[in-house]
Amino acid sequence: MKILGIETSCDETGIAIYDSEEGIIADALYSQVELHKEYGGVVPELASRDHVRKAIPLIKQVLKEANCTQKDIDAIAYTKGPGLIGALFVGVGVGRSLAYAWDIPAIGVHHMEGHLLAPLLEDEKPEYPFVALLVSGGHTLLVDVQDLGEYKILGESIDDAAGEAFDKTAKIMGLGYPGGPAIAKLALNGRAGIYKLPRPMTDRPGLEFSFSGLKTAVANLYMKSDKSEQALADIAYAFQEAVVDTIFIKCRRSLEQTGHKRLVVAGGVSANVSLREKLTDLLESKDGKAYYPRLKFCTDNGAMIAYAGFARYQAVLDGKGEFEEAAIRAKPRWPIEEL
Ligand code: KG4
Ligand code: ZN
Repeated sequence: MKILGIETSCDETGIAIYDSEEGIIADALYSQVELHKEYGGVVPELASRDHVRKAIPLIKQVLKEANCTQKDIDAIAYTKGPGLIGALFVGVGVGRSLAYAWDIPAIGVHHMEGHLLAPLLEDEKPEYPFVALLVSGGHTLLVDVQDLGEYKILGESIDDAAGEAFDKTAKIMGLGYPGGPAIAKLALNGRAGIYKLPRPMTDRPGLEFSFSGLKTAVANLYMKSDKSEQALADIAYAFQEAVVDTIFIKCRRSLEQTGHKRLVVAGGVSANVSLREKLTDLLESKDGKAYYPRLKFCTDNGAMIAYAGFARYQAVLDGKGEFEEAAIRAKPRWPIEEL
C-alpha cells in the first residue's frame, strides 16, 4: 500500500510517499524560512500563498522520485490540524481534491499525532505503551500513549511552547528565525556556570510547563551583558540548559508516574542534541529506552503525515474507525485527546 502525505500546517511544505513494504520511498520538503526571516516569525498569509505555489510541483516531484503514477497511490493523507488555518486549507484542499479525482480515500491527520508516530519510521521502533514528549514550535505535551489513538495528556505548557521559547529568546538576542538551531549552535561555545536561569515549575508537583518567564529572564541578562560573542554564547548555554533541565525533570516524573520504560521524543525541539543526550541517559539509567525520529523528520515533514495516514488507514482495515465524509475541513485547534 502506498500513501501520499501532505503537510502544510505552518511554514514547511512537506510531501512524501510511504510504502507499507519499503517505508518512505520519496520525500520532499520546501522550507519557507527565507521568506519569513525578515519578519522574525511566520507571516500566516505569506505561508498560505507559498504552500499554494509549492504543493503541486512537490507532489509531481515525489511521484517521479518514487517511480510512481497516480494509479499506484492507495490513499492521500493531509494535515487537518492543528496549525495556521489558511496554511492548513491548502493541504486539505489539494489532498481532498486529488483523492476525489483519483477516486481513493483521503485521511485528515492530526499534526501532533504525525510527530508522535515519526519515530516509528526508524528501524528500531518503540512498542506501545510509552510516554511521548512532543516539543514543537506550537506545543509542549507529555502524553501517555497506550496505543494508536489512545492518548492521555499528562502535562502541557500553560503558556509558551518549548520551541516558541527558543524562537522568542533568539529574537531578543538578535539571532533571527528559527531560534532553536541558532541558539543550539551558539551554546556550543558557551561556558557552564556563568549564568543561572530558573527551571520553571519544577519546585512543585505536576507535569505542566511554563516557558514564558524564561525569555524575560534572558532579556534581562542580555540587556546587562556587554553583548560580546562570548557573553551571547554563555547566555544561549544557560537558556538551553534551563529548558533541557526543565524538560528532563518533567520526563523523569512522567515515567515514574506511569511506570513506562519507553520515551518517545518528537517535534522540532527533539532535534536538540543536548536534549537528546540527556533524555537518552535518563532512560538508560532506568533500563529503558528513548526513541527519536531521524533529524530531518524531527521538524515538520510530509513523511510523518504519510505514515500517520497509513496507520489510520490500517486501523480502518482492521475495523477500528472509519474514513470521514468527503468534506473540506480544517481544525486550527484540535486537542490530541479528541482522537
Ligand atoms: O515541529 P516543528 O517543525 O514545527 C511545529 O510544529 O511547530 O518545530 C519547530 C520548532 C521551532 O520553534 C524551532 O526553533 C525548534 O522547533 N527547533 C529547535 C531545534 N531545531 C528546531 N529547538 C531547539 N534546538 C534545535 N536544534
Ligand atoms: Zn510540527
